[in-house]
Amino acid sequence: MIVRPPRTEDDEQIYEVSRLAFGGPREPAPAYLWSAQQGWHGLVAELDDRIAGTVKVRDYRQFFGGAAVPMGGVANVAVSPAARGHGVANALIDAILPEMRDRGQCVSALYPSVPPLYRGRGWEQTGNYERVTLRPEHFTMVPRPSERLVMRRATKDDLPALHDCYLRFASTVEGMLDRATDSFQLEKLLDLDIVDVVPGQDGTVLGYVTGERPEGEKLTVHDLVADDLETVLVLFTNLARWSGIISEISLRIDDPAWWQLIVPQPVLHDVRNHPWMLRVVDLPAAVAARGWPIAAHLADTSVDIEVTDEHASWQSGRHRLVVEGGKVRCEPGAGNGTVRLHARALGPWFAGSADTAMLRRAGLIEGDATAARVLDLLTGAPRLPRMADSF
Ligand SMILES: CC(C)(COP(=O)(O)OP(=O)(O)OC[C@H]1O[C@@H](n2cnc3c(N)ncnc32)[C@H](O)[C@@H]1OP(=O)(O)O)[C@@H](O)C(=O)NCCC(=O)NCCS
Repeated sequence: MIVRPPRTEDDEQIYEVSRLAFGGPREPAPAYLWSAQQGWHGLVAELDDRIAGTVKVRDYRQFFGGAAVPMGGVANVAVSPAARGHGVANALIDAILPEMRDRGQCVSALYPSVPPLYRGRGWEQTGNYERVTLRPEHFTMVPRPSERLVMRRATKDDLPALHDCYLRFASTVEGMLDRATDSFQLEKLLDLDIVDVVPGQDGTVLGYVTGERPEGEKLTVHDLVADDLETVLVLFTNLARWSGIISEISLRIDDPAWWQLIVPQPVLHDVRNHPWMLRVVDLPAAVAARGWPIAAHLADTSVDIEVTDEHASWQSGRHRLVVEGGKVRCEPGAGNGTVRLHARALGPWFAGSADTAMLRRAGLIEGDATAARVLDLLTGAPRLPRMADSF
């Protein structure tokens, strides 16, 4: 087996491997071909002169502690049916890990359809991508806004202000992407059926909603983002106006503020979750890239950890996490390994999705429990990270 970067002439074979794995039309739209896409790197596995497997990593940044951390979004892990069960996927993932590290992607996220494959390589379940479906009438229970703020369809000129509005919210929710890398093209938003903004003063955007009106009696809302209560009430009052023809509005739960604290949740309801996994690829770089807002309120301290990571061996071994003057750093090679972490513990710890008591019960942490509590204090664990973009 040869594992190598893809070439333009591989496009069709790559598409075929992907189509057999995930479905799709026999004839690809040109935009589906790898060489037509931006903001990614990847690898293919070649067996007997044919492409037998693929992995693609998208270039993203993900908010943790208010800072946008370089993240490799693993996608298109696919192996042609006849080549499965012989370690092709494992080989591709093993090869892409050092590549992510070299490119500064110090953490990596993915949406698994086969969690054991990724667990075996150090990723662990960390966050949610959730949708809820409600009737439009439901939003008549949300209080009316006190002012009649205007909404209007966004234009190209609104896009930077719309993105600023998104960032003001996304930077406060662990796990959200900054949508500012080459993997995103803001102007694509204008292709959507709904891109409506609540304009503020001087070209700013106070809130916005994006979505699509598929066939049938449904409305699919993507982003629903607002700076403040008044603006979010305007957006929900507008959603209530869909009652009549529309029987279901599918809402992506991006902002826990409106879902937990503003929308009256129905007594019984189903939330559809597409969980995602996280892996730390380069621990010292990830610690340096993350924001640590809680550290500003902690006395100087340190915790010695020992990491076992056979697939990212560069970060295996002892490290000292030092909290000093409100800042946090990771000193590789230092300390006496008081708290021992499996590679799979690093993602949930870094994101704050699991506290050390949970990690211990899952067999992912051992050693001094009191020292380990510092790890929880640093991230504010346990808390639920979210992502609003699937890939
Ligand atoms: C999932 C897929 C990529 C695995 O490829 P593969 O080359 O057969 O995988 P490997 O032989 O390298 O096996 C990798 C590991 O994952 C496990 N695994 C593979 N497929 C699995 C499945 N469907 N369910 C559970 N575990 C699975 C293997 O047991 C192996 O575990 P091990 O390392 O402990 O031995 C391949 O079956 C495929 O293309 N499936 C359709 C597309 C898909 O689901 N892709 C994943 C997208 S997130």
